[in-house]
Amino acid sequence: AESTGPDEPATGADIAALADVPVGGSLAATLDGERVLLAQPTAGAVVCFSAICTHQGCPVNAAGAEFDCPCHGSRFDAATGEVIHGPAIDPLTPIAVAVSGDRIVAAS
Ligand code: FES
Repeated sequence: AESTGPDEPATGADIAALADVPVGGSLAATLDGERVLLAQPTAGAVVCFSAICTHQGCPVNAAGAEFDCPCHGSRFDAATGEVIHGPAIDPLTPIAVAVSGDRIVAAS
């Protein structure tokens, strides 16, 4: 039997189906109880970010090729997490993910 103690990293934790993230678009999902944002800028290339706005911590929404914060209107590029429109200054925090078969999983 494999060891799956509490100290094991979350490597491989399932996040979403690859098919649920549109190519050129994005999807909000959950990883370890935290809201995260997925995007697939090009087919098979998936990126993931924390959904915590870098301005004042509101939950950011997936909005196609952008991520939008409802609190003060910050917008982020879904492919890179970079700020498109303030007041946020810093990009969203990236989360390492991998594609495993038809699923998107945590990579670290
Ligand atoms: Fe997101 Fe202010 S908390 S724009």
